[in-house]
Amino acid sequence: MAVDLLLGLQWGDEGKGKIVDVLTQNYNIIARFQGGPNAGHTLVFNGKKHVLHTIPSGIFHDNAINLVGNGVVIDPVIFKGELDKLDEQNIDYKKSLLISRKAHIILPTHRLLDAASEASKGKAKIGSTLKGIGPTYMDKTGRNGIRVGDLELSDWKERYRNLADKHESMIAYYDVDIEYDLKELEDAFFKAIDVLKSLTFIDSEEYIYQAQKEGQSILAEGAQGSLLDIDFGTYPFVTSSNTTAAGACTGLGVAPNQIGDVFGIFKAYTTRVGSGPFPTELFDEDGETMGRVGNEFGATTGRRRRCGWLDLVALKYACQVNGVTQLMMMKGDVLSGFKTLKVCTAYKYKGEEIAHLPYNIEPENVEPIYTEFKGWNEDLTGMSEASQLPSELNDYIAFLEKELEIPITIVSVGPDRKQTIFRN
Ligand code: GDP
Ligand code: IMO
Ligand code: MG
Repeated sequence: MAVDLLLGLQWGDEGKGKIVDVLTQNYNIIARFQGGPNAGHTLVFNGKKHVLHTIPSGIFHDNAINLVGNGVVIDPVIFKGELDKLDEQNIDYKKSLLISRKAHIILPTHRLLDAASEASKGKAKIGSTLKGIGPTYMDKTGRNGIRVGDLELSDWKERYRNLADKHESMIAYYDVDIEYDLKELEDAFFKAIDVLKSLTFIDSEEYIYQAQKEGQSILAEGAQGSLLDIDFGTYPFVTSSNTTAAGACTGLGVAPNQIGDVFGIFKAYTTRVGSGPFPTELFDEDGETMGRVGNEFGATTGRRRRCGWLDLVALKYACQVNGVTQLMMMKGDVLSGFKTLKVCTAYKYKGEEIAHLPYNIEPENVEPIYTEFKGWNEDLTGMSEASQLPSELNDYIAFLEKELEIPITIVSVGPDRKQTIFRN
C-alpha cells in the first residue's frame, strides 16, 4: 500500500499536528521522517492542548503505531520530557512508539554549538530554535554523528566523549560568550539516554517495507514547511533537512513510486518565525490582528510569529516541489471580520511581473502584487459542515483551487480536532 504524506507548504506551523491527529483514525502507522525538536505540533481535543516535538502526532490514538524515522534527529532530554507528559496522561506508548536505529542523536554540545554559531552571526542569525538541529545534521552529513543504534554498542560512550570534546574545541573557536556546565548537561543527557533505551529500536526501513507489503496504511508526518527546506527554502534562512516530499523517501526509506497522496497544509494567511525574507509580511494593524486572533506564538520557542497575507506565488511553488494532491486550509476562522482580504498572485521583480518564485525574494528584489477579496463577518468556529461556510469564504477557496489546480479537501475552523470541515 502506498505511503501518504502530510507536509507544511509555508514556513512551518501550518497546523500539521492537528490534521495528523484528525487523520490518524484512517492509518495504521504514523511516521515522522525529518526534523527534530525544532518542531512543535499542537493537538487540541477534549478541552486540552498537547504539544509534541519529536513524537508523531498519532500517539493519542490507541490503534496506531508511531514511528520516529531515520531522517529525524532526537534530543533524548526533550524526548524524555515528551514521554513524561504522556505518562501523566496514562498514554501507553511502550508498544506503539518505535524508533529507527538510524536516527541521529542530538548531543548537549550540538545545542551549544547551535547557540555559538547563532551568537557569532550577530544580526545575520538564522533565528534557529537553538535545539542543535544544524550541528547535528552537519555531523550526520560529515559522517561523525552518533545514531540510536550506536547506543547498543559497547564503545558508544567513548565515541560520545570524542565527539563532545571536538565540539568543545569548536565552541571555543567561535569566540563568543557562551556559559555552560557540561557536566550538568551530561547528567540529564545520560539519564534520558537510559529512558530512550527502554523503548523499541527497529530497522525502520525494513519495518515499513514489510508493513506496506502487508497492506498497512502509513501516513508520513512532515515537520517545518517547504519554504524552510534546505534545498528549496529561503536559504540560508532555512532548517537543515529536506522538509519536502523527497525527504519522506530518504527519511523513511520509502521508494518514490510508493508515495500515494500528498496532503499539503497551509494557513489561510502566512506566518514565519525567525529571520529571513517574507514578501507579504504585514507591519500594520492587519498583521497585528492576525497574530492576536490566531494566537501566533511559536509552540517550541514561544516567539511571536511574523504574519502576512497569503502568498500564492510561494504556495504554488511548494505544491509543485511536493506534488501535492490535496490541500488543507487552516485557520480560516482567524480571517473573520477582515473587510478586505488580499492574496499575492504575482511579484514585481526587476521591473517585470512574474508568477514564479525567483532566487531572491528579499524586499529590495520583489514587491507583491495583490488580488483583493471581500471578507466575511461570520464566526466560523462553531461550523461543522461545508454548507455553513459564508459565500465570501467559498469564493476565496474557489479562487485558490482554480489557481493551484488542486482541491481543498479540509477547511479547519479552530484548533480543536472537531473544528474540521471536510469538503468533497
Ligand atoms: P504545526 O507545527 O504545523 O503542527 O502547527 P503549530 O501547532 O505549531 O501551530 C498551529 C497553531 O494553530 C496551534 O496553536 C494550533 O492549535 C492552532 N490551530 C490549528 N488549526 C487551527 C485553526 O483552524 N484555527 C485556529 N484558530 N487555530 C488553529
Ligand atoms: P513545525 O514543525 C516554524 C525555523 C526557525 C528558524 C529556522 C531554522 O512546528 O512547523 P532550526 O532550529 O531548524 O535550525 O531553525 O527554521 N523553524 C520553524 N519554524 N515551525 C517549525 O516547525 C520550525 N522549525 C524550525 O524558527 O527560522
Ligand atoms: Mg509548529
